[in-house]
Amino acid sequence: MTETQRAVTKAVIPAAGLGTRFLPATKAMPKEMLPIVDKPAIQYVVEEAASAGLGDVLIITGRNKDNLVNHFDSVPELEYSLERKGDEGKLGKVHESSELAEVYFLRQGQPLGLGHAVGRARGHVGYESFAVLLGDDLIDARDPLLDRMIAEHDSRGATVIALMEVPQESIHLYGCAAVEATDDADVVRITGLVEKPAAAEAPSNLAVIGRYVLRPEIFDILDELPPGRGGEIQLTDALHQLAEGKGEAPVYGVIFRGRRYDTGDRADWIKANVLLGVDHDELGGEITDWVIGFADQLRARREG
Ligand code: G1P
Repeated sequence: MTETQRAVTKAVIPAAGLGTRFLPATKAMPKEMLPIVDKPAIQYVVEEAASAGLGDVLIITGRNKDNLVNHFDSVPELEYSLERKGDEGKLGKVHESSELAEVYFLRQGQPLGLGHAVGRARGHVGYESFAVLLGDDLIDARDPLLDRMIAEHDSRGATVIALMEVPQESIHLYGCAAVEATDDADVVRITGLVEKPAAAEAPSNLAVIGRYVLRPEIFDILDELPPGRGGEIQLTDALHQLAEGKGEAPVYGVIFRGRRYDTGDRADWIKANVLLGVDHDELGGEITDWVIGFADQLRARREG
């Protein structure tokens, strides 16, 4: 399939969560605007969509999201002032986020769950397959995942979700997949899904991470779906129905073995800043030297 024939061109990014894990930082600011090094988390996600060839991005927002919308717009007064100073470098940084993709916004309306947020995209997406990228999951750009998922969707004609092996004690934080092997070690056929199971009830150690390539049949299922875990309409439950054969096509999982950061979790957010900081073009050298020196100090403190 050539680039112009690709079936998947749109990305949907649900960003209507309340961000309670990050209070008080998220009291008046959406969690998606928390910076990782020098860019808000949501910009990395839009960059990921754009670099997978998805030039049409719909962000589903909630209340309190005005500065998220502003981030993808131009800022004439700031641009004018940087132009006058001839500061091309900073001007480039201002332009970056507004030139990545065509970014559209839609309010979720009621906070009824991830499945509901995705269902709201129906009018924008139409009868096409599309990708969903969750803002809390940051996939390191050096370990591309979405391209591979889109290729599997195109060749198998199937719904494709991303999975990652996690320790048993963490599985209750994720959707969890029951799977069958295929002849590709990185691809499994999904036979069932359960949202945030207790470790003892988890069908595997394969967690759903926040990347999905969905066929439009998901919308009819979401429309009919009763609330699930936590009283919310769960995307995982809709995918379970497809995995059980209630749709026209099966569900496959691509097992991701690269670097992923859960930026909605405070400790992981700090780690992501350090990990991306040491590899940053301008700051990497300074941060690396500091981290090494600081690690020595910590070790001495622990031993002394
Ligand atoms: C959501 C999904 C869950 C998935 C997770 C990945 O949960 O419902 O199935 O494993 O994202 O980050 P949330 O973390 O929004 O509660």
